[in-house]
Amino acid sequence: MDGSQGELREAVRQRYAAVALRVLENPATAECCGNVTSTDPVTGSLYSASELTLVPEEAATASLGCGNPLALAQLKRGQTVLDLGSGGGIDVLLAAQRVGPAGKAYGIDMTDEMLALARANAAKLRVSNAEFIKGQIEALPLPDASVDVVISNCVINLSTDKGAVLRETFRVLRPGGRLAVADVVVDGPIPEDLRRRVELWVGCIAGALQRDEYERLLAAAGFQAITIQATRYYDAEDVGDVELSAWLRSRPEYERARLRRAFWSASVRATKPAMSAL
Ligand SMILES: C[S@@+](CC[C@H](N)C(=O)[O-])C[C@H]1O[C@@H](n2cnc3c(N)ncnc32)[C@H](O)[C@@H]1O
Repeated sequence: MDGSQGELREAVRQRYAAVALRVLENPATAECCGNVTSTDPVTGSLYSASELTLVPEEAATASLGCGNPLALAQLKRGQTVLDLGSGGGIDVLLAAQRVGPAGKAYGIDMTDEMLALARANAAKLRVSNAEFIKGQIEALPLPDASVDVVISNCVINLSTDKGAVLRETFRVLRPGGRLAVADVVVDGPIPEDLRRRVELWVGCIAGALQRDEYERLLAAAGFQAITIQATRYYDAEDVGDVELSAWLRSRPEYERARLRRAFWSASVRATKPAMSAL
């Protein structure tokens, strides 16, 4: 990891440590995000009202995802699930209830404050099959072939080494295991300044992948049956940046129409082949 990657990772850590502390100190007034009535264009309304009754308020308040990986994961009783970048724990706590006491849900996160929040949420819920472990998603602290389903919610875009994340995911999955991830993706050529402003607004500090690059990295890691589908588009006009809006208005309509569909949340699915050696 070079110096700039280390700085980016530290910026990511500090950002999420601050969010976790806000929720730990005062859940009622924390400015985020994922409750069912939130109008936040990225994190709002991702979970059903019935799902939100299954987690503590602090887990819902701290939800910073951009999709709902549980809706993709089709979890079964007894399975082992791993959430990459588990934050306040919402997806791990929902997964733990779906897989039941015979199953297990792990959350990996590098930010101590988020781990403290997630563990407090698990204790409130009294779930015994959820475990939050400190670690980097680029070097997962779990054995080879030990997980049935890997989920993640708006975290892979934050990594400075997305290839390593996908290789590690492949390693820890059992043959036949599945990846079911929500993430931000970009499409097509985008002016660099526009890209950075929208990505920062969406929260992609390290930069989102282009769809074809995502597919290439998944295939290079060994995955098959790869699908990447849009679930929500982010319009650069929503960023509320006067300069950016003026620039967009100066562009021809066909280009604005393309850019309106250039930044999106995706459901990313892939499978580790059943006959895989690892
Ligand atoms: C956008 S939040 C998402 C949290 C959670 N998935 C959710 O949906 O609420 C990103 C989380 O990923 C963690 N994270 C970011 N990069 C990471 C990395 N390289 N390794 C481990 N955790 C990371 C952050 O600490 C933070 O808790």
